[in-house]
Amino acid sequence: MSPDAGPTAVPGDPGDPGDPAPPEPILTLARSARRVTVLTGAGMSAESGVATFRDPLTGLWARFDPTDLATPQAWRADPGLVNAWYLWRVALVRRAQPHAGHQALAVWAARPGVDLRLVTQNVDDLHERAGSVVLAHLHGSLFAWRCDHCERPVPPPDPPTDAGERQRIDPTPCEHCRDGRRRPGVVWFGEPLPRTAFDDAVRACLEAELVLVVGTSGLVHPAASLPRLAAESGVPVVEIDPHPTALAATADHIWRAPAGTALPALVEALGPIESADLPR
Ligand code: OAD
Repeated sequence: MSPDAGPTAVPGDPGDPGDPAPPEPILTLARSARRVTVLTGAGMSAESGVATFRDPLTGLWARFDPTDLATPQAWRADPGLVNAWYLWRVALVRRAQPHAGHQALAVWAARPGVDLRLVTQNVDDLHERAGSVVLAHLHGSLFAWRCDHCERPVPPPDPPTDAGERQRIDPTPCEHCRDGRRRPGVVWFGEPLPRTAFDDAVRACLEAELVLVVGTSGLVHPAASLPRLAAESGVPVVEIDPHPTALAATADHIWRAPAGTALPALVEALGPIESADLPR
């Protein structure tokens, strides 16, 4: 944690849009930081209609058991079930649209003199579709499939139009080695993170003048260790999340607000930029 800064809670109920103006200490940090690293989690996509994992009523892990769907053992035991579940999620994300918070991050990154690095735990492509370049997809991508045997990249299978969450669809064979099957390029529990992505994320956190954490419960490591790593090396950490998270003790300032409201308000408060600099 950076020196002498206690967490700043914004008045108002969590999740209540309330006063959308950014808290002054957060705005001051955002205005002065040239190197900004943003770490996003599932809450970033919630307002696009993509469910989080751990929200008590709507989270995916409230309805599904991750050990049946998101482990190498599950893939070996019931590949049709796992394949169908990820195809259902591919179809769902394809229908979703980035919201104003995704767009605000792309606008911020386009500000002259700002080096904004985006690190996400999300396997969707909503940041990219809003015009952002993502430095690191820590947990892989729903759109980067590979062979489960030879590991070479393969095109993502097309989900059936009626893709359902509890169907079984046999995985398609690898087009390279014929011994393997196409598996989603996501990180399952028990698997290591992509090395380069994690190294890039660590560097981005250590080199930043501000680390902004948006919409993650802070429960899944090693991604959850990144804010603490930044704080321990003196980088100010700000959290945006409507609900309390495990990162409360790490963050210097906390803004209890949804991403789709807070990020546009924050970026707007930074002031106008030339239209020629806006993302296309
Ligand atoms: P979680 O589901 O654990 O946490 C989602 C966070 O988003 C919570 O803190 C919510 O309060 C917050 N949230 C909800 N709505 C929000 C909104 N509109 N704006 C901002 N925040 C909001 O998701 P993650 O922390 O991303 O891993 O989960 C980490 C990893 O666990 C995922 O990447 C996934 C999962 O198992 C793998 O699949 C490997």
